[in-house]
Amino acid sequence: MSKNRIFSGVQPTGSLHLGNYLGAIRNWARLQDEFEAIYCVVDLHAVTAPHDPKELSRATREVTAGLIASGIDPARSIIFNQSMVPEHAELSWLFNCVARLGWLNRMTQFKEKAGKNRDQASVGLYAYPVLMAADILAYKATHVPVGEDQKQHLELTRDIAQSFNSTYGLEFFPLPEPQIFGSATRVMSLRDGRKKMSKSDESDYSRINMTDGADEIAQKIRKARTDPDPLPGTVDGLAQRPEALNLVSIYAALEDIEIDQVIQEYQGQGFSTFKKALADLAVVRLGPVGNEMKRLTAESGEIDKVLADGAERATQLSRPIVAEVREIMGFLDPKKS
Ligand code: TRP
Repeated sequence: MSKNRIFSGVQPTGSLHLGNYLGAIRNWARLQDEFEAIYCVVDLHAVTAPHDPKELSRATREVTAGLIASGIDPARSIIFNQSMVPEHAELSWLFNCVARLGWLNRMTQFKEKAGKNRDQASVGLYAYPVLMAADILAYKATHVPVGEDQKQHLELTRDIAQSFNSTYGLEFFPLPEPQIFGSATRVMSLRDGRKKMSKSDESDYSRINMTDGADEIAQKIRKARTDPDPLPGTVDGLAQRPEALNLVSIYAALEDIEIDQVIQEYQGQGFSTFKKALADLAVVRLGPVGNEMKRLTAESGEIDKVLADGAERATQLSRPIVAEVREIMGFLDPKKS
């Protein structure tokens, strides 16, 4: 039996940080053993908000370097950028005619991103989840590793697949399942334990970038916000201490152990001791990844070669699927008749 197929995407906007690494990318690397994996740098999604053309290509290469440096093997898995495979945009249009306005009106991420000034949001931002459905279904992916914030979009993908299938009376698309990790970590800002670590936070001290050097990592952790109390003796003792919980969670994720084990080791210790240990661990784990990213980025042509090869392989998979969709929907192909 063939392996199940997973598809996931990451936007090339800003710089990759620890939250992307521990929350997603590191797990993507692990999934390669169990699944046939397709990982996409979703550059078409990145232009739903105003963007700088030079920055788009820079970020596309940087994200690709981050995927490879984190252990995704381009020989085994497919890594490519979305805009190179026109099937995504094409299927997205066809799905625009499947999805209902009412479904999209419920999307909470659009409401958040568009804010009060909804009339000024791009149509692309509104249709963003439909493009995401096309990404996944162009490969008939069965599993999609996504975080909490993307679950609603995956539900929409299932609705689109289901609606297409029932309209045409076929079991054509699988209904893709979310692939949730026990080990995925929701990494919070180093400045505010209730906010997600984010590339759009204006303070660089709020996040650890994957390309930060040892000194920057150590300094950011040293300056991370905490409370004055020592570490508690139980995990429950972290409940009302979001900053403390965040640092302990990051430690556990980097060491691949349970939060409980971290607490057992460091209970009663103050943050000066714990932060030092965390900084050392972060440097050991992230240092090699950041260095490999820098090496790949400096090596001219290497990243582009991976993307070109990935696009070719992705096209081989998606082209026949989208061609079949065209045929099912009744589009005339005069070359065939
Ligand atoms: N919307 C996702 C995010 O912002 C990125 C994405 C685009 C994606 N297409 C996808 C994720 C397909 C999973 C599958 O995180």
